[in-house]
Amino acid sequence: MSLPKLWSFHHILMLSVFSGAANGYYTYNWVQCIYSSPDFSDMVYLNSYYFNKYLFVQFNSTVGKFVGFTEFGVRNAEIWNNDPAILQQNRAEVDIFCKPNAALTKTAIYDKAVAPVVKLSLVKKGDSRHPSLLMCSAYDFYPEQIKVSWLRNGTLVTDVTSTEKMPNGDWYYQIHTELEYIPKAGENISCMVEHAGFSKPMIYDWNPPPVSEFEWSGPLLFTAGDAALMLGIIIAAAGFIYYKSK
Ligand SMILES: *[C@@H]1O[C@H](CO)[C@@H](O)[C@H](O)[C@H]1NC(C)=O
Ligand SMILES: *[C@@H]1O[C@H](CO)[C@@H](O)[C@H](O)[C@H]1NC(C)=O
Ligand SMILES: *[C@@H]1O[C@H](CO)[C@@H](O)[C@H](O)[C@H]1NC(C)=O
Repeated sequence: MSLPKLWSFHHILMLSVFSGAANGYYTYNWVQCIYSSPDFSDMVYLNSYYFNKYLFVQFNSTVGKFVGFTEFGVRNAEIWNNDPAILQQNRAEVDIFCKPNAALTKTAIYDKAVAPVVKLSLVKKGDSRHPSLLMCSAYDFYPEQIKVSWLRNGTLVTDVTSTEKMPNGDWYYQIHTELEYIPKAGENISCMVEHAGFSKPMIYDWNPPPVSEFEWSGPLLFTAGDAALMLGIIIAAAGFIYYKSK
């Protein structure tokens, strides 16, 4: 089975500048530094210009120049690409803006990562016709970015029932992911958790408890001793209440 790459979350540093908001028209400039490798070697700098929600011109550091997407954008791209100062400035942003800021984010946030505590539990027991509901919960992790997935016999499950991530309110987070499935004999169900606090994706196998733990083992019977004890407690309680009300 192929495990998704660790650090597969995209970290995006963003800076937006809104300029000009007249008669409901908006132009804005959005700067992004996108990377997923811990050493920032795959850093991409994007400098995008939008009119209302439409991207009209963009500098992408992988391309190395401005590209226009509308007539106006194409004209701007042409002008800016012919200005050595503008081009040089944008080409340098990966090193002078993105990497130093990513390093700050890393020391301020990601280096303080706290790995989650993961628990698997059975929410609803199913059988050969009715689905079971399993829950994979990860508690008390930081930062917020986390990926929780389910594996059946080592293969990634795509139709996961529900996922909910919540802040604890104390800088830590928790996430709960449910999987509905028809149990099959000899099948491995596991929950895979990827987080900056782990050095590799962690896999937690669901080991169904023995059947007897779920079956009710017969009618509940009181022995004469139990009955006498309960009667004693009831009488004592009644006596106490009587005493208090006096
Ligand atoms: C930046 O350009 C590269 C090369 O064309 C492309 O693969 C990548 O998707 C672009 N990034 C974005 C966010 O558009
Ligand atoms: C299921 O998990 C157990 C224990 O982790 C392992 O020994 C076994 O090989 C797995 N079977 C399959 C089919 O993946
Ligand atoms: C999972 O593996 C077990 C044991 O190899 C097999 O019996 C079962 O059919 C497999 N289940 C699926 C859904 O592939």
